[in-house]
This record gives sequence, structure tokens and C-alpha cells, in this order.
Amino acid sequence: MSTHIGAEPGQIAPHVLMPGDPYRARWIAEDFLEDAELVTEVRGMLGYTGTHNGRRVTAMGSGMGQPSIGIYAQELFAEYGVEAIIRVGSCGGLSEKVAVRDVVIGSAASTDSAMNRARFGDVTFAPTADFDLMRAAVDSANERGLPAVVGGLFSSDQFYNPRTDITATLAGYGVLGVEMEASALYTLAAQFDRRALSICTVSDHLITGEETSAQERQETFSDMVVMALDALHT
Ligand code: HPA
Repeated sequence: MSTHIGAEPGQIAPHVLMPGDPYRARWIAEDFLEDAELVTEVRGMLGYTGTHNGRRVTAMGSGMGQPSIGIYAQELFAEYGVEAIIRVGSCGGLSEKVAVRDVVIGSAASTDSAMNRARFGDVTFAPTADFDLMRAAVDSANERGLPAVVGGLFSSDQFYNPRTDITATLAGYGVLGVEMEASALYTLAAQFDRRALSICTVSDHLITGEETSAQERQETFSDMVVMALDALHT
């Protein structure tokens, strides 16, 4: 057990899929994994380990925001020896280069969080995805005909952010979507010399105002899980 994860050593697989919502972790376990077992439920943050195509995979929730994913990712890397984490989540579209239902494969993560200022002082660290996971996710999307776009994410500390000028500025620099976790995940993967990627469906669009229905979110969520499992097994 670690401070926030109840699994015994060995009960977490080397490869982890991380949705924000713990119920989505349960849904991944039920629909995609064989012989899945609940291995942690501390604070309701469900984690299941099973197999997919004969390889062990854990699906575990991250919660919302960088402090939350930061706690779980740190413990998974440092205390359970996890080798790769793929976050599967949603993002708000920032740019006309993406539409709702597109899947953003996050190559880098800008942030307004103070977390990396606390780590690096005056240096602005550039959190980036693992190249091999990213390439494998792109290959999977192409082979399966899924609408994926590679580009930057903005990991914001505020879901309800009144500063629309910030997202507009970032869009001008090629950032595609706003979410709340990728920057901390990529930073911790760098610290522990492990691999990480964030794949996010555009669930709502800050410029066009478009939104997806619950049904569409479920379908695109399935597409992301398929891409993530392909990428983890490449
Ligand atoms: N902001 C932050 N996170 C998000 C959003 C958003 O608009 N949409 C989906 N996740």
C-alpha cells in the first residue's frame, strides 16, 4: 500500500490507463479487460487490474486537476514501479483546428499551475509526451480511421476560467485543447524516467460553443481506450 493507493505490491500492472472519473476506470475494466479485479478503492478512487490481449493493464481514476493526478502518478511511478501511464480524458477545444469529437493526442502541456514554478523556480520546464507512445497512438488512430490530431494541451487549474484572453492567446500559439492534468503527468514521468501520454476527446468547444451528448462522449471514450490500449501494447 502507498499513502493513497490500497493495492499490494504487484497488484498494479506496469501499464496504466487513467481516466479522470473512477467510474470510467470501472467501465474500462468491465468492457475492455479480462479477469479484472478491484485492487484499490481508497477515497473512492477505483483501480482495477486485468489483462488485455494477454498483457496486464491497470485502469485507475486520477481525479480532477494536477494536484490529484500528481499524487496518484507519483505513487504509481515511485512505489509501484509503473512504467507507462496513458491518461484518457476530455478537453475543451480552444482552436479552430479542432472540432468536438476530435481526439487530441497531447504532444506537450502548457500550464497556468504554480506546481512547476514550485519545482523549477524561474525556469519554465516544457512537459512533453513520450514520443513512442504518441507515435503508436497516431498509428492506431490512422489504422482505425479515428479523428485524431496531435498538438499542445493547456493544463489549467481552473475549469471555470474567466480569462478568455489566455485561451485565445494559447490558441494563437497552436495549443488545441484545455484540460486539467497533462502537465503534472508529463512532469512526473520525466522525473521518474517513465513514459506518459494524454489523449483527450474534445467534449466542448470554447470558440464554437458546440458540445457533445453523453452518448457521443461514451462512444469517443471507447475510441480513446482502444487507441490507448494499442499504444501501450506497441
Ligand atoms: N476546461 C478544462 N477542462 C476541460 C474542459 C474545459 O473547458 N472541457 C473538458 N475538460
